Amino acid sequence: MLMNQVETLMVNNPIRRALQRWYETPLLIRLGGRTPGGRVAEIGCGSGYGTKLILDQFGAAHVDAVDLDPAMIRRARQRLVRYAGRVRLAVGDATDLRAAFDAEDGAY
Ligand SMILES: C[S@@+](CC[C@H](N)C(=O)[O-])C[C@H]1O[C@@H](n2cnc3c(N)ncnc32)[C@H](O)[C@@H]1O
Repeated sequence: MLMNQVETLMVNNPIRRALQRWYETPLLIRLGGRTPGGRVAEIGCGSGYGTKLILDQFGAAHVDAVDLDPAMIRRARQRLVRYAGRVRLAVGDATDLRAAFDAEDGAY
C-alpha cells in the first residue's frame, strides 16, 4: 500500500533516521547478528536509508531492494549511487518479486 503524505513525512525525517542508525540497527545486530558478505532482500525499501545501513552496518555484500512507490525508488537511486554494483533496486509489489526485478531494466 502506498503511504500518504503524513506517513511519508513520518518515515523520511532526521529523527527516524537517527533512531534507525543509533537504536534499531544496534538492537537488530544484537538480536540477529550482522550479515557480512551476504545477499539481502529488502522489501519496502522506501528511500533507501535502510538499504544503506544494511550495506554499511550489517556488512551485506549486495542488497536486492523493492518498493511499490516509484518516487521512493527514485530517491533510493539517488541515495545509493555510490553503491553501484552492490544494489539492485526495483519498483514492484512484494507479492511478486520476480516480476518486479524482471521488469527493472535500469537495475544496477
Ligand atoms: C514504513 S515505510 C519503510 C521504508 C523503509 N524501509 C525505511 O525504513 O525507511 C514502508 C515502505 O513499504 C512500501 N510498501 C508498502 N507495501 C508494499 C508492497 N506490497 N510491496 C512493496 N513495497 C511496499 C511503501 O511504499 C513504503 O515505502
